[in-house]
Amino acid sequence: MDKKQAQERITELKNSLHQYGYEYYVLDNPSVPDAEYDEKLQALQQLEEQFPDLITADSPTQRVGGEPLDAFKKVTHSVPMLSLSNAFNETDLRDFARRASQGTSQALSYVCELKIDGLAISLTYENGKLIRGATRGDGTTGEDITSNIKTIRSVPLSIREKRKIEVRGEAFMPHKSFLALNEAKEENGEEPFANPRNAAAGSLRQLDPKIAASRNLDVFLYGVGEWDADPIESHSERLTLLKELGFKTNPEWKKCDTIEEVIEYVNYWTSERPNLSYEIDGIVIKVDDLKTQEDLGYTAKSPRWAIAYKFPAEEAITTLTDIELSVGRTGVVTPTAILEPVRVAGSTVKRASLHNEDLIQAKDIRIGDTVVIKKAGDIIPEVVRVVEEKRTKEQQPFHMPSECPACGTDLVRLEEEVALRCINPNCPAQLQEGLIHFVSRNAMNIDGLGEKVIKQLFQADLIETIADIYRLERNALLQLERMGEKSVDNLLKAIEASKSNSLEKLLFGLGIRFIGAKAAKTLAAHFETMEHLQKATFEDIIAIDEIGEKMADSVVRYFAEEKVTDLLQELNNLGVNMTYTGPKQTTEAINSELTGKTVVLTGKMENFTRNEAKEIVESLGATVTSSVSKKTDIVIAGEDAGSKYDKAEKLGITIWDEQKLQEVVER
Ligand code: IVH
Repeated sequence: MDKKQAQERITELKNSLHQYGYEYYVLDNPSVPDAEYDEKLQALQQLEEQFPDLITADSPTQRVGGEPLDAFKKVTHSVPMLSLSNAFNETDLRDFARRASQGTSQALSYVCELKIDGLAISLTYENGKLIRGATRGDGTTGEDITSNIKTIRSVPLSIREKRKIEVRGEAFMPHKSFLALNEAKEENGEEPFANPRNAAAGSLRQLDPKIAASRNLDVFLYGVGEWDADPIESHSERLTLLKELGFKTNPEWKKCDTIEEVIEYVNYWTSERPNLSYEIDGIVIKVDDLKTQEDLGYTAKSPRWAIAYKFPAEEAITTLTDIELSVGRTGVVTPTAILEPVRVAGSTVKRASLHNEDLIQAKDIRIGDTVVIKKAGDIIPEVVRVVEEKRTKEQQPFHMPSECPACGTDLVRLEEEVALRCINPNCPAQLQEGLIHFVSRNAMNIDGLGEKVIKQLFQADLIETIADIYRLERNALLQLERMGEKSVDNLLKAIEASKSNSLEKLLFGLGIRFIGAKAAKTLAAHFETMEHLQKATFEDIIAIDEIGEKMADSVVRYFAEEKVTDLLQELNNLGVNMTYTGPKQTTEAINSELTGKTVVLTGKMENFTRNEAKEIVESLGATVTSSVSKKTDIVIAGEDAGSKYDKAEKLGITIWDEQKLQEVVER
């Protein structure tokens, strides 16, 4: 075959394969048996091998190509990718309709669509060819994930529209692919994905496109970004046009002429949702007429012409088989409910924090009870209530022990706190947790020393204090199970390397109360050496802008302990660096998720009093106010948060739990 004949045959094969692929992956309606597709694909592959300069980027053989990337490039969205405001009930939907109708005399029509629970993507085509696939990112800047997007079979590599067009939609993982992936992960001893959304996002974040290709992702497209030649007048026409151009659109959309019809659609899908082969988390309602959309315009974050109805948090019923007690680094004893595994909101729940005894008493939770579980904010598992009718005489009221489950010391309840604490400084559980914290990423960051190895070393009596880490010897390590020569050498290298960490990592690693990674950095940059900080007075420390009274007090108390002086001396003798080697810190450089935010605190926290929490949040640059309004950016909710929580949920305001606050503080 000469080159000209090859070219003709290649075009023919590509056209057929393109058509078959479209029927199979986009329409879900194949017209030929799989074998015929495979045969043609093979023929094309062979011809392309013979004539490599005839390979084009849109050839079906090129879906999985290229080497793994080092990093994703950034992409700026020429039209920002906004999010939607939320509706939680019929009243919110009617309010939306009322707001949208103001200013027009015409009756409005709406398009209702399923809200696919995946991640937003943007596809750009030039000269009819897919040239870029990108994530939403923060809405302004996303990441170029073209090589991964190309592996999704339902994404056309070429279209007939030759003018530049940017199409937007949702990439997701169907249930079937999700279940198969998690099964394989579990078989390999890997941690399964919590839900299909995480699995889809995790797959598209892989630098090697072969991984995304193996994950069987799918897309639904529902909008356009940049498109000069947009010839249409309504969203429903747009969906039809996208379909005609060869894009996969979701078939369940419906045009509704009244808000009553919208509500009917919402109710229908609330009950039909479990029968879909993919996850949805709500319904998106859009004003159909594009001119009206334009008139309604946008707020800073979202269009006024659309709203997302969010399904209520899914609940499930299961048995609480045990209450496990764990002792944290600071001695707080936390009860955790152990549950008969149950699926809720897209993932399997096996445990739920019960926080403290007050909460257990308030809900009268007992071992053996049948309980209702939900995921707060669809993320954190929570025991909602006990199903009293299922209770027999077997279940006895639960009481926290009066002694530490790890060391037997009497537990105490500090003033203003709901938590019970073990105040034995030598409690083995606390020591272990302290060691785990010391080696963690934001602290000394010692590779190869994870939770498991720390516990192993602790149980083998090789370490008790953090100084012991720097005294570990090769021969002793080699005696341990699962420790080969190579891992021992790597571990010792990582420990040695950590000695030259800048001061803030050590300071954070020490685990001083209220001193998170940020405060540690501020202190290290300010005092420059451990010696200066050890000598600093309360007044010296409080003089620093970002450091509040509680923090300063905690630092002074910590360094006043003789044990601490000895430990630092030991670490110094072992060669651990005690000097700040990072850049000179300016106040502007301190930037946290809380900087500039308006925050409301509500409910009871376990580890902070209200004043402590306020002080810490303010030290990170946030303003704390007392009531929830549209101006509130974040509501931080402890236990029994009540009406402020409800209001925040209604207004679609970001809600954090105490754990999230803790994470941000420690970052
Ligand atoms: S329309 C201007 N339609 O929901 C916003 N979004 O909070 C245009 N989503 O980021 C979005 N299904 O990732 C739209 N049928 C659908 C959707 C949908 C899922 C996601 C999308 C967006 C988020 C909105």
